[in-house]
Amino acid sequence: MTRSKPQRHSRFGLVVVAITALIVTAALATIWLRWWNGGMDLDRGAALYAVHCASCHGGELEGEEDWKSLGDDGLLPAPPHDETGHTWHHSDGLLFSIVKEGSAAVIGDGYESNMPPFADVLTDEDIWTILDFLKSRWPAREREFQEQISQQEN
Ligand code: HEC
Repeated sequence: MTRSKPQRHSRFGLVVVAITALIVTAALATIWLRWWNGGMDLDRGAALYAVHCASCHGGELEGEEDWKSLGDDGLLPAPPHDETGHTWHHSDGLLFSIVKEGSAAVIGDGYESNMPPFADVLTDEDIWTILDFLKSRWPAREREFQEQISQQEN
């Protein structure tokens, strides 16, 4: 009789330890998966960027030379996507539309642009993955600024 009590006690202790271990394992697995997925997506974003965007926006996101002046064709050159450009001044929604529909369609009014639409080339998910890659290259200040304007738009 006197022995059953401490036994039950220790079994309860075991259950607590087991549950705690489960929770810790689940938490670690979630963190690891997030990190792993994030890493994978950034790699994919970088690869998509290299194939579809780098020819105009530069392999290092540096944009075309003299991008603030109109080119010989009378159109704007491709701006940089790093913090020296103004990509980070635009909300998620606008950036997505520009890539999907092209600048001419987004600005309208007969505006002509060398920024082509990618609706037939990239899936929506591809576009978000590329945008995630671009954001990952911005310093914290630009990232926070862009996040704020994106939230205001929603
Ligand atoms: C053929 C050249 C070319 C390619 C390829 C291209 N762009 Fe552009 N992009 C431009 C030009 C030129 C502009 C400036 C357009 C304008 O404002 O008229 C621009 C503008 C943009 C803008 C607006 C930036 C800002 O600061 O306002 C975004 C975002 C953008 N491009 C993303 C992309 C992404 C992402 C890809 C690849 C999926 C890509 N572009 C591929 C030429 C290109």
